Amino acid sequence: MGFDPRSFVERAVEEIKRTVGGERAIAACSGGVDSTVAAVLAKIALGDRLKPVYIDDGFRRLGEPEATLKLLRSVGLDVELVDAKEEFYAAVRGLRDAEEKRRAFRHTFYTVLGREARRWGARFLVQGTIAADVVETVGGVKTQHNVLVQLGIDPRSYGFELVEPLRELYKPQVRELARYLGLPREISERMPFPGPGLLIRVVGEATPERVEVVRRATKIVEEETRGLGAFQAFAVLLEGRATAVKGGRRVYGYIVAVRVVESSDALTARASELPYQLLKRIASRITEEIPEVARVLYDVTDKPPATIEFE
Ligand code: XMP
Repeated sequence: MGFDPRSFVERAVEEIKRTVGGERAIAACSGGVDSTVAAVLAKIALGDRLKPVYIDDGFRRLGEPEATLKLLRSVGLDVELVDAKEEFYAAVRGLRDAEEKRRAFRHTFYTVLGREARRWGARFLVQGTIAADVVETVGGVKTQHNVLVQLGIDPRSYGFELVEPLRELYKPQVRELARYLGLPREISERMPFPGPGLLIRVVGEATPERVEVVRRATKIVEEETRGLGAFQAFAVLLEGRATAVKGGRRVYGYIVAVRVVESSDALTARASELPYQLLKRIASRITEEIPEVARVLYDVTDKPPATIEFE
């Protein structure tokens, strides 16, 4: 049987109304298709009893917080910006292990949301967790930042109960819902971006300086691959350094990996066969526009055996 967005929306809205009753809820919005669809469903169900919030954790892409707020407000979500950058950087300071970084991110994320829930008098948190998030966490691939219960964490310890209207769905169905709900293509076809953002695109310690390098490289990769229709296209800052000669001087700079993949549900993926000229242009731009970078590598590994992200 095909997926019927109309009856899904009807059932989801009813379920949210039943769960939340006369209480209030906040919705954690990132601008991605999952959280936006979840928030729009909750908005239909709860109206003014829903407060959408956007957390600026300091790991967003260049200009992303401003652009996302504008986009979400344009679809009727009166999002509140929560600036928690310092809190997040303090939480991950000195951490190098991928899972430790995720754990610190998750704890800070829900601590901030718990505080927001109290501030808005909300008993519930609406979030856009989908089936793939849970599958990968339970399957031991990684502990996704937005999965709590399956990890044995009681959301009430953070001060809210969860509402997850999309937990049974996969990405293609969520995109279908977004189109059905009339959301702009910028949302319905949006490239997935991990919840912990650039934190997990910096292998090893994510200092503000290292995050800034990957932020600038990400912009170049996104600009150069726009229009290819890739499932995801991004830059990663690796650990270690390499030699380069810049302006006649030897420098010992950063190593950036570029990853572009084709996929439909993120569970498996193929490394894209990019034209060589495009790869060369990306490498030139990154090394020229970001003087701290010495080398650019292209990742040709599929998933499996690799994952899409490096961490
Ligand atoms: P992997 O790296 O496991 O990624 O192949 C599969 C999909 O999930 C995204 N991803 C995450 N999304 N929180 C998220 O919200 C996370 O912790 C996280 N880790 C990976 C990744 O970008 C890809 O789309």
